Order: sequence, then C-alpha cells, then structure tokens
Amino acid sequence: MKDEGMKSSEDKTTTETGRRRFLRWLWGSALFVALAELIWLTASFLRPRPASLGDDNALFVAGPLDSFAPGSVTAFPAGRFYLARLEDGGFLALRRECTHLGCTVPWSEADQRFICPCHASSFDITGQVLQPPATRPLDLYAVRIENGVVKVDLGAARRRTAFEPSQVVRS
Ligand code: FES
Repeated sequence: MKDEGMKSSEDKTTTETGRRRFLRWLWGSALFVALAELIWLTASFLRPRPASLGDDNALFVAGPLDSFAPGSVTAFPAGRFYLARLEDGGFLALRRECTHLGCTVPWSEADQRFICPCHASSFDITGQVLQPPATRPLDLYAVRIENGVVKVDLGAARRRTAFEPSQVVRS
C-alpha cells in the first residue's frame, strides 16, 4: 500500500516534469516564431524598393511612336496606366486610379474624357479635373522616347496639382 502511494507520487512528479518541459518547449517555439517574424518584417521594411524612378527595370515599353495617333488614349492594363497622345503629338502617361478614392477610371471615347464610375469625377485627356469630387489631376508617370519607341517609367507616379505644358513629352 505504501509502495503504491510512493509510485503514484513518482508518476505525478514525472508527469509534471514532462508537462513543464513541454510548456517550456512551447514557449521557446512561440518566441522563436515571433522573433523570426520581427526580423522578416524589419528586413521587408528596410529593403530598397524594387523599382524607382529612373530604374531601367521599371521601364514599360509602350510601343513605336507612330502606333499612337494624335488625340488618342491607349490603355495599358498590365501597367495600370493610359498613354495619352495629345493633338500636337505630345505624350502623357496617366495613372488609371481616380485621385478621389482610387477607383479605376475608364476612358470614354464617346465623351472624350475619363469618367470615374464611383462618384462621377471626370478628367480630360491631360488628366485635368473636369468634374469633382476629385480635386486634383490624374497622377503622371514619366515618359521617355528612345529611338522612336515610347517607354513609361512605372517606378513612381507623380502627384500634381494642375496640368502644365511642361509635363508633356515630345519626341
Ligand atoms: Fe472616382 Fe470617387 S473614386 S470619383
């Protein structure tokens, strides 16, 4: 009877030691995972952005100069922008997100303007606001014309408060 009591007490101690060891392992693992996540987040935050203005990797080749008629707007869904060629032959690359709340703004050929489906803001071919609630023009990407080919730098969109003729890129 006494032996059985001692055995039971030993079993209990062994079980508690095992449980403690398991809990210690569990806490250690959780701490390890938390530290790994913290390191990963810090590294992601500090890592340089893959593309920046002027970075050749961010250059989107739109096509030969002559393939864009004056007064036309060409959508590039893969690049999320429109290439507008003005009547005088100049180019503007317009980000397709509405400057009100970010909806994608389609070009209406019939109305000759961009009309936002969300709250009806509209923009002309240069991206200027024709109708609010948007208050500023569509953002711009830099355009380069190299050897008769139009390229758009998608490294960074430029915010602007108004359209200015100096924003137009000519060959
Ligand atoms: Fe375009 Fe509101 S998101 S008008």
